[in-house]
Amino acid sequence: MAWLLAVVLSAVAAGCYAKDLDFPAGFKFGAATASYQVEGAWNVSDKGVNIWDKFVHDNPSVIKDLSNGDVACDSYHNWERDIEMAAELGLDYYRLSLSWARILPTGLPNKISEDGVKYYNNLIDGLVAKGIDCMVTIYHWDLPLPLQELGGWTNPLIADWFEDYARVVYTLFGDRVKLWLTINEPIVVCDATYNSGVTAPGYLSPDLGAYICNKHVLLAHAKAWRLYDKEFRSKFNGRVSLANHLLWIEAASDKYEDLAELARQNAVGRYSHPIFSKEGGWPPGIEEAIAKACIEKGYPKSNFPSFTLEEIELVRGTYDYYGMNHYTSRLIRDALPGENLTVWPFGDCPDLHGKMETAENWSESVVYWFYLNPEGIRKQMAWLKQQYGDLEIMITENGMPTYAGLNDTTRIDFYKSYLEQVLLSIKEDGVNVTHYTAWTLMDNFEWGDGYTTKFGLYEVDFEDPKRTRTPRESAYYYASIIKNHSLDV
Ligand code: NOJ
Repeated sequence: MAWLLAVVLSAVAAGCYAKDLDFPAGFKFGAATASYQVEGAWNVSDKGVNIWDKFVHDNPSVIKDLSNGDVACDSYHNWERDIEMAAELGLDYYRLSLSWARILPTGLPNKISEDGVKYYNNLIDGLVAKGIDCMVTIYHWDLPLPLQELGGWTNPLIADWFEDYARVVYTLFGDRVKLWLTINEPIVVCDATYNSGVTAPGYLSPDLGAYICNKHVLLAHAKAWRLYDKEFRSKFNGRVSLANHLLWIEAASDKYEDLAELARQNAVGRYSHPIFSKEGGWPPGIEEAIAKACIEKGYPKSNFPSFTLEEIELVRGTYDYYGMNHYTSRLIRDALPGENLTVWPFGDCPDLHGKMETAENWSESVVYWFYLNPEGIRKQMAWLKQQYGDLEIMITENGMPTYAGLNDTTRIDFYKSYLEQVLLSIKEDGVNVTHYTAWTLMDNFEWGDGYTTKFGLYEVDFEDPKRTRTPRESAYYYASIIKNHSLDV
């Protein structure tokens, strides 16, 4: 009898264990790409030129391998294979982005490109036919050049240009697209871009361009959300948010907790508080902190723009869920003598660097367990809940690069350990996280890293004119998680 009891007990234990690793019913899995990173076909038909086309052509040496996205994965021609891959993985949804200049060659809706629209209709229809939903990013960094020439994200009119573009894409695709993201990672569009000058459009405007841009992306997002709410929601019943880039910032000891919190408000709060907090507007204390830092740096006054009361109300509450891209964590700790420190968050006014952990380089990152910190994703979501209440969170990107070819066991470990933390968030912390998006479906143009950094579930052969795609071990692993709706695979 004892053996029977042992068998029953171990079965129960195994059952409990398996149950713990199960995702809630209704939890959805996806994978993501972005237009400039995969499409290629930079000058087909009447497509307009965008800031990445120009940036890489004018400054080839800023890209590690001197490459560009002219052809990339040639998804413009390989869209059927892309759909097939999404189906092979069993994705619930595919996150793609629209190239503004492919749809509106001048950036404005005076002319809509038939070929551009056809490409996205083929892709969206093909996905829908396979039962795969679409999560569509309206802007993933490829601004039409004519709009950049008028100042791009530093011109306040961009909020209206973006709203007009959003109206076009809601009208064209809203019957089939139910999940929208207005802007991908505004902190990169603004802070990383204007403070470093090494991403398109390549203009350096430290401490100024980033803040002006910060305000304008929020207004642009808000106008696009309100437009959907007013004119499209009742017809299409979709949901709209934006995708913020969230690095978990951890204090190594209590003495750094205040600094860590200021850094979180500076990096996450500046792009979240105006939208997601009950009161709206900039995060408390951040205007003062930035003003002080600006004056200390020798500016006569703060470079940080304020909001009018009307603008606060325009932006406040413009979300249907929280879209979160998450990759890594940063630790605030004592600098070691002579340490070559990374400037973060992106070198803006507050002098928060000098105590930041290093290891910016993705290729090194895989060897720093600290840098890839699975608990960070759980802590980040708990922080969001504590700051902004019980929001629905969709993880809109998570992934890691490896150099392991097809047998990418480190990537499998990465997905397993991060997804375990997602389960703990749901089950232990009561966080309402409903979607998980792997970055990325296939190797692609990784901005300044060119094709040297490989994040793909599918390997792409960039020597091959056909850009043949081959599943890695991680693709099979992710597919089995999706199939079993569990990490118990
Ligand atoms: C975030 C960006 O949205 C995406 O374009 C990029 O490739 C990944 N992070 C990886 O760096």
